Amino acid sequence: MKSSEMQTAANDALAKRYGQKAIPTIGGWNETIALLMAHRSIRAYRPDPLPIGTLETLAAVAQSAATSSNMQMWSMIAVTDQDTKAKIAAASQKQKHIEQCPLFLVFVADCSRNRRLGDAADTELASLDYFESFLVASIDAALAAQNAVVAAESLGLSTVYIGALRNQPLFIAELLGLPKGTLGVFGLCVGYADEHAVNEVKPRLPQEAVLFHGRYGVMQEKDLIADYDQEMGAFSKRHEMSDDTWSGRVLNRLSNPANLNGRDQLASILNAMGFKLK
Ligand SMILES: Cc1cc2nc3c(=O)[nH]c(=O)nc-3n(C[C@H](O)[C@H](O)[C@H](O)COP(=O)(O)O)c2cc1C
Repeated sequence: MKSSEMQTAANDALAKRYGQKAIPTIGGWNETIALLMAHRSIRAYRPDPLPIGTLETLAAVAQSAATSSNMQMWSMIAVTDQDTKAKIAAASQKQKHIEQCPLFLVFVADCSRNRRLGDAADTELASLDYFESFLVASIDAALAAQNAVVAAESLGLSTVYIGALRNQPLFIAELLGLPKGTLGVFGLCVGYADEHAVNEVKPRLPQEAVLFHGRYGVMQEKDLIADYDQEMGAFSKRHEMSDDTWSGRVLNRLSNPANLNGRDQLASILNAMGFKLK
């Protein structure tokens, strides 16, 4: 690609991500960055199966992500069985895409494998009982998953994360045979986008609202959010979403713990699942 073509491609992608009024000046562009900038979640899938070996490719890239101290405290469960996907969907606010997608990946924060390692070596792994270990396992799982998302998108596949997997963690643990010291932190639908799926890049907050130099700052925050509300309002209108502004959605989501759909109980449930979270 010529440099003028690259500049145009970059500007188009940035305009989609930030809106015309908030395009930042950037200093590098290539196919990888273009792919990352074009990300969008897809919530309608064709039933077509994935090519043989796709799962193993996704696992390989997921395992290639950085992992805290190389402890690799995450696992992944591939669910293709229709009945199991239907049960997961029923426990996850009936999200239809979970049943539609040919592959549903459950990403597991996994302290159990290293616990078994300790048990076999007759060594008490006291550090696993700290909140830090749960955080490490959750971060590991998230980094691995995001690698899989990027690779899937590079193969022409689509994805959507499913945080609603945490609505009923004990049910999911029972369904998937998860041992103590593990949590299905989120799921990931993988498949070919249905032609009717909403397929537009969703704008983000202007860079100035999230990128600070040297020191955190909130000086312009109100104005930046007001601009973003306009941008997201237009996006919502185009896609007939119920709430029109981003602020409205955030306020609604975070003002009432009932909107956590059971996840308000997570701390005590994690205890029952073998995480001590000291
Ligand atoms: C950890 C996590 C959990 C999510 N859970 C859900 C979910 O349960 N259902 C859903 O439709 N989208 C879910 N999403 C997708 C977000 O809604 C989506 O990423 C966000 O609206 C931005 O849109 P985009 O991914 O198209 O840019 C989740 C995303 C993340 C990162």
